[in-house]
Amino acid sequence: MSIALCPGSFDPVTLGHLDIIERTSRHFDEVIVAVIRNPQKSKSLFTLEERQEMLSEETAHLDNVRIAFFKGLLVDFAAEHGADAIVKGLRAVSDFDYELQMAQMNQRLSGIDTFFISTSPKHSFLSSSLVREVAKYGGDVSSMVPPRVAKRMAEVFERGEME
Ligand code: PNS
Repeated sequence: MSIALCPGSFDPVTLGHLDIIERTSRHFDEVIVAVIRNPQKSKSLFTLEERQEMLSEETAHLDNVRIAFFKGLLVDFAAEHGADAIVKGLRAVSDFDYELQMAQMNQRLSGIDTFFISTSPKHSFLSSSLVREVAKYGGDVSSMVPPRVAKRMAEVFERGEME
């Protein structure tokens, strides 16, 4: 059975992520969406549990996709779950340098291969951080994240939790 990992912070999941997850699910028997527990990032918008809930809701129609958390090295998580590959979306050339470096490092560490899927042009400018910023200042993110995610983002900012 072929198992792929789609790793990331997913804070929050965007339509770009979902496009990559859906397309990955067509090529592998199982897809594990691996949400990092210890991102080197400043304050998060959503808790890990909220991110898992949103990912589960938005991938509920995909029978071979499940959500899991990981901590530490992605290659260790891959080994624990018997994953054959890592799959990442490439949005633009600007992603390439860093993604190539990570792919080569992961290959060196454990021999695991990374496959890149080109992001759909309609999502090529999307990132969770930009979406967070737009939503924070009241911009319309309805074409960037699923409606349920947009609603949750609006609720967080309305409550003033993320000034
Ligand atoms: O959504 P992000 O924040 O761009 O995801 C980055 C992520 C989580 C995929 C990357 O930081 C990662 O794989 N971290 C795990 C730690 C690790 O294995 N580091 C060595 C990679 S070369």
